[in-house]
Amino acid sequence: MKIKNEIQQAITEMGFVNLTPIQEQTIPLLLMGKDVIGNSHTGTGKTAAFGIPLLEMIDFTSDEIQALIITPTRELSVQIKRELSNISKYIDNCRIVNVYGGEIITKQFSQLKKKPQIIIGTPGRIIDHLNRKTMDFNSVKYLVLDEADEMLKMGFVEDIETIFTFTPSTRQTLMFSATMPKRIVELAKKYLVNPEVVTSVGDDLTNKDISQYYYKVKRENKTEAIYRLLNIYRPTLALIFCNTKAMVDKLTEELIQRKINCDKIHGDLPQTTRLDVLNKFHNGVIEVLVATDVAARGLDIKDVEAVFNYDVPEKADYYIHRIGRTGRIGHIGYSFTLVSKGEVRQIAEIERLSNSKIKKRTIPTYEKVLDVKSTKFIEEIKEIVQNESLEKEYTVLNQLVADNLREDEIIAALLKKLNALETNHKNIDDINEDFNTENKSRNRDDQVRFHLNIGKESNLTVSDILDFVTSHVKISKNEIKDIAILSTFSFFSVDKKYGPVVLDNLKSKKLKGKRIFISVFRKSRR
Ligand code: CDP
Ligand code: MG
Repeated sequence: MKIKNEIQQAITEMGFVNLTPIQEQTIPLLLMGKDVIGNSHTGTGKTAAFGIPLLEMIDFTSDEIQALIITPTRELSVQIKRELSNISKYIDNCRIVNVYGGEIITKQFSQLKKKPQIIIGTPGRIIDHLNRKTMDFNSVKYLVLDEADEMLKMGFVEDIETIFTFTPSTRQTLMFSATMPKRIVELAKKYLVNPEVVTSVGDDLTNKDISQYYYKVKRENKTEAIYRLLNIYRPTLALIFCNTKAMVDKLTEELIQRKINCDKIHGDLPQTTRLDVLNKFHNGVIEVLVATDVAARGLDIKDVEAVFNYDVPEKADYYIHRIGRTGRIGHIGYSFTLVSKGEVRQIAEIERLSNSKIKKRTIPTYEKVLDVKSTKFIEEIKEIVQNESLEKEYTVLNQLVADNLREDEIIAALLKKLNALETNHKNIDDINEDFNTENKSRNRDDQVRFHLNIGKESNLTVSDILDFVTSHVKISKNEIKDIAILSTFSFFSVDKKYGPVVLDNLKSKKLKGKRIFISVFRKSRR
């Protein structure tokens, strides 16, 4: 297959080392003039699969609209334009215009005056322009329906059929869809001529580079679960899906309150806001994006390492689309699905329909989160001490010392002010649920949990803790429960009747040569 040097050079620079299977199969067919139905899972490079041949075939010396690409959402229109602009970077006189609703139509008039050869837009606004005669499709040679299944679902069939009637019947028509419901096949039969069907779906509908996990938690603990998973996995960018706009609003609020750097997109937000938020997410200014299914359809964002399903999606194909936002070509990804009582059945259904394995996992304990956070915090502090100039800080420090404050007091007070370790975190319980049995955590209610400032880094073992406690307190080893040893600290629990003695007797004792600070981490709940 020969592709002109301008395109070759651009895609090399974009890092396309090899073409993906759908591209390998589709590009030659399109160059031969065939109608094509392309069906492959998300993130397999469908945009370039039609983009490369279109850019190869369009006559850029002409002023007429030759290619029309219809998409379900404005965001997707913008994204496809960006991708095609990259691929056509070295092609002279290539003009691409987006037309979508929510943007003042007069702005689009002036762009259309520049005589684009390629139009990318949403159905409603395209029809609007056709009715106003500000756009004319008499010279359209290539018509692409991207995310066709989604457009059907959104009720765009009639609009699409109307648009078809404005284009010459000699056009070449392409349809791309991640799934192939019957109505897509019917639409194709009506408007495509002897189409070649290209699939590269394979056995499983979902990408193999995605580790898929689910967690059983109560609805009211889902935000806490997301918070913990975000802190443990630390994805570069994370996308969280909710089933409703209201839930998107609520969750975003809750995460912002917990100081997570996040924002949201859904259909009720103004166009400019949505694009602005997406841009910020692209650039990493926002690290977590909360979205509804429709708003995030088809989006390609490079560094999304984790997709969360706050709600289990109502349909399996939504699940496939959602998790398709991560693990895109050459990247690994995670998907985390939170399952509450009423949603357990759907998970099995999704596994069956998507033919993939979703593994059950448990939400990490809050202790684990604290461990990861404090380790990271300590690293950051070391980094600052080693690499940054601290002159200004020292002037304040000298002042505090001059006022007779001890250095450890100053540091502790600063940590408090920084709220670095969130001492006021509300929910520190085990939030994993087993919906079949009664709550098993009851017996923990009369326990006191202690925190020790020593952990794995000091080679601490379980028997060290047992020996340490029993050598200072009259208590038998089997009464010391739930020992957890993390990197820089550890925990254990005892019956609350021992609480005061343990605290008194272990205070300032030495363990493995280190002076121990012991504190109560969690009191009994009654
Ligand atoms: O439409 P689909 O969900 O199949 O994927 P896309 O939105 O076209 O995203 C594919 C991503 O992979 C884009 O970021 C491309 O730049 C990149 N890519 C590609 O399309 N083809 C390659 N051969 C290599 C990378
Ligand atoms: Mg796509």
